[in-house]
Amino acid sequence: MAFIVKKNINGNDYYYLRESKRQGDKVISKCLAYLGKSRGEAQKKADEIIKNLGKNKKDSGVMEEKKENVFASTAISIEDMAAFCRRKGFVYRSGDIYGGLSGFWDFGNLGVELKNNLKREWWKYHVYSREDVVGIDGSIITSPKVWESSGHVASFVDVAVVCKKCGFKTKIDKHELGKVKCEKCGAEYENKGEFNPMFTTQVGPVKEDSIISYLRPETAQLIFADFKFVQENARMKLPFGIAQVGKAFRNEISPRDFLFRCREFEQMEIEYFVNPEEACPYEIGETEILVYDACMQKENKEMQKMKFKEAFQKGIIKTKWHAYWLEQEYLWFISLGANPGKFRIRQHMSDEKSHYALDTWDLEYEFPFGWKELQGMANRGDYDLQQHMKYSKKDLSIFDEEKKKKIVPHVVCEPSQGVERALLVFLFDAYYEDKERNNIILKLHPKLSPIKAAVFPIVKKPEFEKIAENVMKLLKQEWYVVYDRSGSIGRRYARNDEIGTPYCITIDGDSIKNKDVTIRDRDTTKQIRVKISDLKNTLRKLIEGEIEFEKAGKVL
Ligand code: GAP
Repeated sequence: MAFIVKKNINGNDYYYLRESKRQGDKVISKCLAYLGKSRGEAQKKADEIIKNLGKNKKDSGVMEEKKENVFASTAISIEDMAAFCRRKGFVYRSGDIYGGLSGFWDFGNLGVELKNNLKREWWKYHVYSREDVVGIDGSIITSPKVWESSGHVASFVDVAVVCKKCGFKTKIDKHELGKVKCEKCGAEYENKGEFNPMFTTQVGPVKEDSIISYLRPETAQLIFADFKFVQENARMKLPFGIAQVGKAFRNEISPRDFLFRCREFEQMEIEYFVNPEEACPYEIGETEILVYDACMQKENKEMQKMKFKEAFQKGIIKTKWHAYWLEQEYLWFISLGANPGKFRIRQHMSDEKSHYALDTWDLEYEFPFGWKELQGMANRGDYDLQQHMKYSKKDLSIFDEEKKKKIVPHVVCEPSQGVERALLVFLFDAYYEDKERNNIILKLHPKLSPIKAAVFPIVKKPEFEKIAENVMKLLKQEWYVVYDRSGSIGRRYARNDEIGTPYCITIDGDSIKNKDVTIRDRDTTKQIRVKISDLKNTLRKLIEGEIEFEKAGKVL
């Protein structure tokens, strides 16, 4: 069944096509495409998509409109977001009691849950839901030869500069030398020379016998180095991808903007390998996005809104693979509740690309401090596998049974995402100061919410507390849930709204008689009554978005 869904974001209506499919006893929903801003346009596009999918209206179910409850988020600065995260237990400065260390952050009891949920959702979307991607977990420190072969030792360099007037220190890309002015006061920069942002470390306790290696600056190289093992062990056939989530380190000259630019961070990366002679078999959807290619930037033109498909057909995005992955990555953010109006794709200028890239597009987000890179998607060609073959003298090619020849796969696209930047996106789009409720409501998607439910006995009496403790026992096998018995019910709701808990479960007088509880929805404050025996299943369906709140129980 396909639905047209209307979301109201910052006062504007946006239409999407969402599909719900029953799989066993579950209903799986996913966003198929962005349909535009008007109902008429949305219906036209939806009809077209369904026709293209080879289905007629009857097969895909009645098209109907559901209104989703999406509040506008409240714009706050990055400093205010950092203060909120610290106050609520999401993120602290690392080593804060000693004054902290610039570029390093610790995640508190809520931050660790949010981060783990985000990584889990990324893994489910990119690995479990596809048959062409498998994962690895490489080590942080590896043979330094990996970094010599990849070009990171020689070419992974930034230029350190200091403002001649205000003394502001930062790094710029080589191509920006002489072109950019101080971002604080507009004066000229003084070139302080090139530096390599890789952290070095001594491996081995005795200095004379030890070797110098590096903390990995990207997770990607371990995928290339392990490529042949994984391809053989997982019996992967081209095209296929290898995914990895893990820590990366860069000795940034000027870490700033809270989690945006850190020295220790996490990446979620895929290297997607293809036979360069074979076309992309996947369809590009009808999603629209703001596009800002190298030409528009050079000629100082406005970015343009267009479909990913159109950008590929017009030759703006050079390969279908690149257009396909850019759309997939954008849709991942939207499927978890990010604001579609704040994304664009931007092509790197020719002198901006990394040493390994043939063409690079970034997925960018409009942060309070401007449009910034959220995710880099480079076409790395066969650069990395060729380099590792040359330096290791190992054959990393694949034998093509059909054509009876060896091929070195190309990485047509490398979706490379920083966990911390994604986390900021979801926090900014969820943060809402509700004037009526006089409270912050953190409208995180329930899949991302650190605490899935808070359980309250309405009064501190043993008969209520006994049921509440049993409900806790039931739910905590599966999720991070909390038990809260202090303060008024209103205060307890507000406390949980502020940290994004989507559901509050109350045990009251009727619970004793009827063996049921009240579930209250964070965003609408609506309440339903659910039997305790159905509670776990109902909560699971609500978190996964498989059921509407008002259909999940008896509405009060
Ligand atoms: N393997 C390709 C690669 O590492 P990149 O553009 O240098 O490409 C990919 O990094 C992503 O990693 C960025 O889009 C960003 O989300 C994240 N990232 C990079 N440097 C970061 C930093 N200093 N702090 C936080 N995230 C960072």
